[in-house]
Amino acid sequence: MAKGSVSASVIRRLPRYYRFLRELSEAGTVRISSGDLARKMGLTASQIRQDLNCFGGFGQQGYGYNVKSLYEEIGRIMGLGTPRKTILIGAGNLGRAITQHMDFASRGFDLTGIFDCNPELIGRQIAGITIQNSTALYDFCVRNHPTVAILCIPKEAAIKLSRDLVALGIKGFWNFSHYDLLLDYEGIVVENVHLGDSLSILCYQLAEMDRENNDKK
Ligand code: NAI
Repeated sequence: MAKGSVSASVIRRLPRYYRFLRELSEAGTVRISSGDLARKMGLTASQIRQDLNCFGGFGQQGYGYNVKSLYEEIGRIMGLGTPRKTILIGAGNLGRAITQHMDFASRGFDLTGIFDCNPELIGRQIAGITIQNSTALYDFCVRNHPTVAILCIPKEAAIKLSRDLVALGIKGFWNFSHYDLLLDYEGIVVENVHLGDSLSILCYQLAEMDRENNDKK
């Protein structure tokens, strides 16, 4: 698979394939046709064949896909093999919710440290992990070599902290702060999450539906 040869939209669909295939595998399904998988996922069979062909194609004519092998192969493509050491900065509302509800291990991450600068939070535990003072961040990174940081802090704090985090070896950011790190740093990958954008897309889709319904009248 050539680097950069797979479109962003295919990559965005991979976790969904992975989730559906896990559910199928857990339900005992051994193989599935592209048509059946498409119906379950609300896609078309040709879309599924096109997507999976980007990675070399896994199906066999007349047989369909072997659910377990496809599940494992997509997991391998997504890099889920070796969990990446991860730290979370900002143990406020968002940081707590993420820590409590996200199954990091199954997604290829190993949450090893949580940091905050609020003295009232330091020493408390979330999901069995003790919140540490952010002043301990440097020593922690030097000793444990995390490569991923989850930023659940305000924009200004993220601007101040990110230089140190990059210098300490953080290569990937799951970024909830409204600061676009990619503009300032090279050699890192950033997944920005803006729940507000997602909500705005819902608003757009509703507006589209209204427009279509008005056109029909
Ligand atoms: P919060 O105020 O409950 O938590 C923020 C935490 O970050 C606090 O515990 C604070 O002590 C800590 N903090 C601030 N500066 C720090 C630093 N330099 N080092 C370590 N810890 C530091 O806020 P909440 O609700 O958890 O939101 C966190 C941030 O995420 C906010 O800035 C908010 O705008 C943003 N946000 C983004 C969303 C998105 O979709 N991208 C959705 C919700 C919030």
